[in-house]
Amino acid sequence: MVFVVAGVATQAGTPAGQMSREVAGQVFQTNAISPIRVAESLHKRVAVGGVIAFMTSKLGSVSLNQGGGWSSYRASKAALNTLSRSFAGQHSKASWSVILMHPGWVRTDLGGRRATLDVETSVRGMVAVLERCLDQGVRGGCVFLDYQGQTVPW
Ligand SMILES: NC(=O)c1ccc[n+]([C@@H]2O[C@H](COP(=O)([O-])OP(=O)(O)OC[C@H]3O[C@@H](n4cnc5c(N)ncnc54)[C@H](OP(=O)(O)O)[C@@H]3O)[C@@H](O)[C@H]2O)c1
Repeated sequence: MVFVVAGVATQAGTPAGQMSREVAGQVFQTNAISPIRVAESLHKRVAVGGVIAFMTSKLGSVSLNQGGGWSSYRASKAALNTLSRSFAGQHSKASWSVILMHPGWVRTDLGGRRATLDVETSVRGMVAVLERCLDQGVRGGCVFLDYQGQTVPW
């Protein structure tokens, strides 16, 4: 399994249209483009029945976006979701599957102190979901799941 986790929420409170091009570009590079580049460079090492997972966010769901806050972060994760589906489609004959993982709202530097989950609860949940996917073997395609194994709408 490859699990690409790194992400940033730089100036997440600034609406995307008011953000400097430099910061907006850095958020997109880190959250959307670089994870795919990592997966492109490592996928040949993933065993048959393996998993390539990307840490995304429910905020990247287009259909769940009601409030519009964290607009650049949301858009970067929506871009990651689309790029991951493209990555899965471009490797449709591969023997691994792609999982987009939402960890919940977690008390980290990014999630902040008001987040509802501690790291242990989120990580234990994600490990159980990923192990279940590995046990089930190859499914191909790309799914969007949360740390409890629930499907997140696109
Ligand atoms: N916390 C939440 O509620 C929440 C919710 C949904 C999704 N997520 C996602 O979960 C992932 C982990 O976030 P977190 O909450 O653990 O945030 P975090 O505490 O801010 O940690 C982010 C991690 O990403 C690494 N990173 C950032 N930019 C990088 C780069 N350019 N190259 C290499 N590593 C880089 C950081 O490394 P350094 O410490 O070395 O900078 C750090 O280890 C992210 O993708 C985030 O979007 C988090």
